[in-house]
Amino acid sequence: MMKLMNIAIDGPAGAGKSTVAKLVAEQLQFLYIDTGAMYRALTYAALTQNVNLENEDELDSLLEGIQIDLRHTESGVLVYVDENDVTELIRTDEVNKHVSLVASHPSVRIEMVERQRILATGSNAVLDGRDIGTYVLPQADLKVFLTASVEERARRRHEEQVKRGFPSEFEELKKDIARRDELDSTREFAPLKKADDAIEIDSTSLTIAEVVKSIIDLAKERAS
Ligand code: CDP
Ligand code: CDP
Repeated sequence: MMKLMNIAIDGPAGAGKSTVAKLVAEQLQFLYIDTGAMYRALTYAALTQNVNLENEDELDSLLEGIQIDLRHTESGVLVYVDENDVTELIRTDEVNKHVSLVASHPSVRIEMVERQRILATGSNAVLDGRDIGTYVLPQADLKVFLTASVEERARRRHEEQVKRGFPSEFEELKKDIARRDELDSTREFAPLKKADDAIEIDSTSLTIAEVVKSIIDLAKERAS
């Protein structure tokens, strides 16, 4: 049997990680694991249950008590908290604003990382996030660090939010993305950082198809 392969895609908000990771996984018939969705799901649950987001213990107990599922269906990956479909609800500005704070707590991260490693074990998988190549799967067969200018990332995210029916102001969105990048890159525990052995792809002026092709070519190269 062929050796299993893990592909790690990390990078800042709006660089195209989840779009590209999903397509790469589809084409290679790998499992796609959206780790950001897990932090978002916890943030959503915390906001709806009025948990103090500064309080690590409160968040830990909440996380312990809920099940976060990434369900693979015909119409894509659906995110569930217990039996509730939160796929769309985790993409609001409210969740965007608070998710990096929730994700900064070390014990929350340790629990999430354990869940992510269990999901990735035993499968060919593509994972996207901030710390996949540096911390979750340091032995990943292929690591990609996907970037784009902040202007372009905000433009993409704005277009997406308009389509989703969550209108948000472009300048606000850009500020939020920059703030989240700053928090994610400067937190003490497993910050957003390019792994030494990651290949950097700047997608500012690339199409989705071009990025997907580069990653698939790299994966094939690594597999042979
Ligand atoms: O889609 P976008 O890049 O805006 O965000 P995401 O990938 O859904 O991740 C949302 C937030 O979760 C990030 O801004 C990080 O604060 C956190 N996150 C993390 O800390 N580690 C990961 N592996 C994935 C996400
Ligand atoms: O997951 P991450 O936050 O890195 O980005 P995303 O949620 O995949 O969002 C990127 C948005 O930019 C999506 O609406 C894509 O259609 C678009 N896009 C892209 O992902 N890659 C390009 N090269 C060009 C556009």
